[in-house]
Amino acid sequence: MKNRKEEINSRRIFGIISHPDAGKTTLTEKLLLHGGAIREAGSVKARRNSKFATSDWMEIEKQRGISVTSSVMQFEYDNKRISIMDTPGHNDFGEDTYRILTSVDSAVMVIDGAKGIETQTKKLFKVCSMRGIPIFTFINKLDREAKDPFDLVQELEDVLGLPSTPVTWPIGSGLNFQGIYDLLKNEVHLYKAGQETETIKLDEDGVFSPILEEKLAGYNLQNLRDEVELLQGAGNEFDKALVDTGKLSPVFFGSALADFGVIPFLEHFLDMSPAPGKRKTTDGYVDPMDEEFSGFIFKIQANMNPAHRDRLAFFRICSGTFTRGMDVTLSRTGKTMRLSQATELMANDRENVETAIAGDIIGIYDTGNYQIGDTLHVSKEPLFFEPLPTFPPELFCLVTPKDTMKAKHFQKGVDQLAQEGAIQVYRNEYNEVVIGAVGQLQFEVFEYRLKNEYNAEVRMDHLDYSVARWVTNDLEDVKKVLDTRTMLVFDHFQRPIILFANDFTLTYFKEKHPEINLVEALDLTE
Ligand code: G4P
Repeated sequence: MKNRKEEINSRRIFGIISHPDAGKTTLTEKLLLHGGAIREAGSVKARRNSKFATSDWMEIEKQRGISVTSSVMQFEYDNKRISIMDTPGHNDFGEDTYRILTSVDSAVMVIDGAKGIETQTKKLFKVCSMRGIPIFTFINKLDREAKDPFDLVQELEDVLGLPSTPVTWPIGSGLNFQGIYDLLKNEVHLYKAGQETETIKLDEDGVFSPILEEKLAGYNLQNLRDEVELLQGAGNEFDKALVDTGKLSPVFFGSALADFGVIPFLEHFLDMSPAPGKRKTTDGYVDPMDEEFSGFIFKIQANMNPAHRDRLAFFRICSGTFTRGMDVTLSRTGKTMRLSQATELMANDRENVETAIAGDIIGIYDTGNYQIGDTLHVSKEPLFFEPLPTFPPELFCLVTPKDTMKAKHFQKGVDQLAQEGAIQVYRNEYNEVVIGAVGQLQFEVFEYRLKNEYNAEVRMDHLDYSVARWVTNDLEDVKKVLDTRTMLVFDHFQRPIILFANDFTLTYFKEKHPEINLVEALDLTE
């Protein structure tokens, strides 16, 4: 039996970030497969498909063949309890993904070995690095022709500014792919398509051991020896403190599809990645070992089953123990809430959960009481976890109900979807609704859900703005400097925001009005 400290230390919460098609789903599946959480590869996709088929509002996902929602998958491996935050990976949907990354302790960045770092990876990386989240890199698809491994590692440094430390190193790629060398364990895993992996433990001569001569093609062995010498001479050494703060990324190579290099990655990752740590509150920290229960909601998913109108609040426990039926305080309102129904989020099914501790994610059934970012706790003193960041939207629409008789439905829908964090909602000076999103798809989902869940059809007029900046000056001063290329809107807290057409107009505005203090949403805490 583990004690509580050991239990907490055996928890891992991470998210996988990647550009679409780099292999995130395939890698997730292989990890779940090794954890025994699913039985066959293909189930993650299959599960998604079957869920979509029964869930109405996800029709849109089915039509476009993508995953809009994100969920959590849990599995066990080597006595560790691991939660993978699944994030939507496609190009045009960002905010939910960004937000989910605020609740993880580490991130795995999957890169297509042939393509290197792509746009979406860059954006997601930025969110992780701002928060100092440790990042582990898995360079995928080595069974296909890949870029030179040194070039890939250099790209991490040049494009992302992320120094790295290779833990495994590829031996060839594509048709010449013969495996990986584990620099820490000093062993070679041989790749043979469609066959079991053979592992060769090396002696103190490492890759210079003669035993490799009969296992690897001459050119591959020569390259490997040269490259490992170079890495050992000039590569970055593993430094836990740097990894823990996201300043150095351990790098792994493999093929998720062939399930090759996945186990070495998983085992090192579990060793190197941090267990749940302290969490910042508005006036201090909560330690996972603290007795008093606390945590926060980082995602709300509504109407997962349209027949029931249910909402599930995804809750990260930061301290203490959850027990079913317990009473907690909802910090925002000060009200007592009973947590009578909560669910575990195993990959294969939803199971009722009786107890859970720091480092666990549970789903709490919600009848409309919770908001994203809410803190729940049992301490006598007020407690608020740091607010989740708002991400600057890049697309804007003016929204009006088509049928003015349905204004109430419209308002209710807009409020709920804003609460859920599905969209950013603003008002212009005429009190009209302006919505902002990170990706176009958020608009489509918004329109679809308003119609299907709130019976409100809307007109959406695209606005030609792409940059939003909050303003801290006096409102009257702000109004004086606005021109036809800008638009003034107000957020949920009545804070003024100026919308600009593009970065160029923003720069021009700044030069012309240096006295106006503009703030990126990311810097805002309320
Ligand atoms: P994503 O979640 O990051 O969007 O990527 P996903 O895992 O869906 O993988 C995208 C495509 O890349 C899939 O092919 C998948 O089979 C393939 N893939 C993933 N990992 C590897 C790998 O290590 N090697 C190779 N050669 N291919 C890989 P698809 O044809 O788009 O889909 P499917 O028909 O195979 O499902």
